[in-house]
Amino acid sequence: MQRWLREWQPPTDKLIIVGPSAGYTLNADFLHRWQEIVVLEPDPLARRLLRWRYPEVRWRFESLDVLSNINDLAWLSKRFANHAILFSNVLGQIAPRDETTSQAWQRSVREMLTGHYWASYHDVISTSRLPVALVAQVSSEEALDKLVARFWHGGELEIVDHGTFGLGRCESQIHFGEWFSREPLDFDQSALADAPSEKDCWISEEDGS
Ligand SMILES: C[S@@+](CC[C@H](N)C(=O)[O-])C[C@H]1O[C@@H](n2cnc3c(N)ncnc32)[C@H](O)[C@@H]1O
Repeated sequence: MQRWLREWQPPTDKLIIVGPSAGYTLNADFLHRWQEIVVLEPDPLARRLLRWRYPEVRWRFESLDVLSNINDLAWLSKRFANHAILFSNVLGQIAPRDETTSQAWQRSVREMLTGHYWASYHDVISTSRLPVALVAQVSSEEALDKLVARFWHGGELEIVDHGTFGLGRCESQIHFGEWFSREPLDFDQSALADAPSEKDCWISEEDGS
């Protein structure tokens, strides 16, 4: 995944990270690349640790919740039109688990972020059984059960489906999860005109300390 982060080079020096916690899955080389990093992370302790672990990064902590209502991603997209967006292992926690609902949710996420460079790594499935392989290159054309069979051979397998499989609709690296990046598509900016102008915020302590 560190290689994937290194190779993700959207043409902007501004980044939003959604759900970084204290940056345990990120690294200094990646973080130092950006002139500004907007952080959406509700855990105040994680935000403090993030600043402490990477003091040289230009953090900009925002108290916005754009995940409770996925339509708010349109608002985020509009407000930070020139930022790339990285979802840091968070979408697997909030995607609907029901298959039909999760497909609609995935479509909405893609639509809301059409104008952005964005990337995500997230849980796809969870299970308590150890896999026989660690990494596989897959296409999202591949069905989830075929994918699962690459990692676990034979017997019964009880899994939790996180509702995120194929979110990127592209080649993904699967490693008990998936990661992908997407580039902006041509789209009608006026579609964002209806995005709400105000956002729900976390009630949190001031991060300027
Ligand atoms: C599974 S953890 C991943 C943490 C870290 N990125 C990692 O990979 O280890 C999910 C993170 O998302 C954060 N989170 C939860 N709800 C969120 C929201 N609405 N917006 C942004 N981050 C959120 C949590 O506080 C937590 O830090």
